[in-house]
Amino acid sequence: MRPLFPPGSNSVFRLVLVGAALSVVTLVAAPMIYVRSPLHTDENHVVAQPIDFDHRHHVRDDGIDCRFCHFSVETSPSAGLPATDVCLGCHAQIWNKSPLLAPLRRSFFTGEPLHWKRVSRVPDFVYFDHAIHVAKGVGCETCHGRVDQMPAIAQKAPLTMGWCLDCHRDPAPNLRPRSAITAMGWKPEGDPRRLGEALMTAYHVHTRTSCTACHR
Ligand code: HEC
Ligand code: HEC
Ligand code: HEC
Ligand code: HEC
Ligand code: HEC
Repeated sequence: MRPLFPPGSNSVFRLVLVGAALSVVTLVAAPMIYVRSPLHTDENHVVAQPIDFDHRHHVRDDGIDCRFCHFSVETSPSAGLPATDVCLGCHAQIWNKSPLLAPLRRSFFTGEPLHWKRVSRVPDFVYFDHAIHVAKGVGCETCHGRVDQMPAIAQKAPLTMGWCLDCHRDPAPNLRPRSAITAMGWKPEGDPRRLGEALMTAYHVHTRTSCTACHR
């Protein structure tokens, strides 16, 4: 009579056990990895805009300060997006026949504003405020990356709660002088930690980790 379990059964059984254990781990780990991955946080994702506006030309080549267009970034929670008039300040004269700028002319003649699409967003139940970050020495680059090198803007930071908290627990190494808030490619001279600690004192920066800071 053939044995009920042939000689190889033990090994097969062990393999099955290991396989089962691995698939449980994968089932649990895969979504955990996914929600933290750029796929889920929308990083590096480019959004189609009404005009193919290029920050490289305007920021890097023409040296226009961010605040010229993002006019409310120092005074209000939202940074603000430029109105048609701001663009026309230059483009009534230069590139005024360019087909790329047809939507701009249409907006001027119809009075219909340009509907810029949002790239970075936090959920509605999260309170975010640009003005305080700028006042306390957090540069645009720290959260938005090198926009002067982006043909089209993509989100560069995960914008998750963990990301916000990492800095809120220990802001020092992420601070820069207010004079360099909009500078791109800024590097601290000397020890970043020492400079950061000095700026914490100068700008009265506190650690903010209580839930009500961001969930009001
Ligand atoms: C301070 C002047 C100035 C302002 C304000 C300005 N631009 Fe420009 N823009 C330029 C110059 C100069 C160029 C020529 C391109 C270059 O530098 O190579 C240009 C080029 C362009 C081009 C074609 C080339 C490219 O960069 O793709 C587009 C499209 C454009 N601008 C859109 C806009 C829009 C939309 C606004 C408003 C949000 C705006 N610009 C505001 C100065 C300006
Ligand atoms: C000449 C005007 C102009 C200047 C100068 C400018 N921007 Fe913009 N910015 C725009 C326009 C128009 C949009 C919306 C279209 C787009 O996303 O490209 C935009 C979009 C953005 C966005 C994406 C916003 C979102 O929805 O998440 C960021 C981030 C940004 N700008 C940062 C900067 C920074 C940082 C600087 C300075 C280094 C700067 N911009 C300078 C006109 C400008
Ligand atoms: C501490 C991180 C941080 C810093 C510093 C920061 N931003 Fe933002 N920015 C964000 C977040 C988060 C959003 C999305 C906000 C939302 O959904 O309400 C955003 C959104 C924007 C937008 C879209 C429009 C708006 O007002 O929501 C623009 C434009 C922008 N930022 C420009 C800038 C510029 C220019 C600077 C520097 C002067 C800057 N940001 C500094 C995190 C930052
Ligand atoms: C790179 C550093 C950095 C990042 C990233 C950052 N913050 Fe901040 N945040 C600061 C600093 C510095 C302050 C000023 C703290 C102080 O001294 O009051 C601040 C203050 C704030 C305040 C005001 C708190 C209060 O009680 O007045 C809010 C709200 C806030 N941050 C929300 C956010 C949210 C939401 C995110 C993530 C989407 C975020 N921050 C990401 C550095 C950061
Ligand atoms: C510095 C800002 C900040 C602070 C402080 C903060 N949160 Fe959040 N929280 C966020 C942001 C941004 C999100 C949305 C992004 C995400 O889900 O990661 C969020 C999301 C959440 C969510 C939804 C989670 C989900 O997966 O959708 C809960 C629940 C939450 N926070 C609870 C808390 C509690 C409890 C505290 C205090 C211990 C706290 N938060 C402190 C910024 C903050």
